[in-house]
Amino acid sequence: MNENHAKVCTSPEWAEHIQTEILPVVTRDVELGKEMLEIGPGPGAATEWLRHKVARLTAVEVDEPAAAILEDRYAGTNVEIVTGSAAELPYPDESFDSVGSFTMLHHVPTVALQNKILAEAFRVLRPGGVLIGSDSLASTGLHEFHEGDTYNPVEPASLLPRLQTLGFDAVTIIVDWTVKFIARKPGPEES
Ligand SMILES: C[S@@+](CC[C@H](N)C(=O)[O-])C[C@H]1O[C@@H](n2cnc3c(N)ncnc32)[C@H](O)[C@@H]1O
Repeated sequence: MNENHAKVCTSPEWAEHIQTEILPVVTRDVELGKEMLEIGPGPGAATEWLRHKVARLTAVEVDEPAAAILEDRYAGTNVEIVTGSAAELPYPDESFDSVGSFTMLHHVPTVALQNKILAEAFRVLRPGGVLIGSDSLASTGLHEFHEGDTYNPVEPASLLPRLQTLGFDAVTIIVDWTVKFIARKPGPEES
């Protein structure tokens, strides 16, 4: 991430935004279960909130220094930090009750790789499990904010067919100043 992210995504204001304007909305009607996976935790704004909602939270972060900071912070807690790419999750099928992805998909350089990450989320979810997430909407300001960094914002209208194609059902897409999404892996009796 560039310097802009280092300032904004580590700030208390960003944590408050994620924790009061995003997470309560995408979890309102959702059962997160006991075991949750977060992908792309970055400085951990969502991690800190989510870890109090589940018994065990695993977070997979591709950036080694970012992962190392979180590993130190959450040593001895219910959070396990793993360094690696969410495009190749080191977990068997049906390992988690829920998966969360916040402000990370636009940092993935291609739509194909974003789809691979969403497919991995589907694979590791238990039947009946849920994917929740959010991302920033494309804008000139956001593009400038990402100078020297990956910038590949999600087209909100594409998310419904992309998630359905992967097998998710009960897909909800909320578009306001961000895009938020909630999608379910069909239960055992439905797949
Ligand atoms: C803008 S930060 C968002 C951090 C946090 N989720 C939030 O909302 O504040 C995006 C994070 O996604 C991570 N990331 C990008 N591609 C990834 C991948 N393939 N697997 C795991 N993490 C990834 C980046 O390293 C970065 O830490």
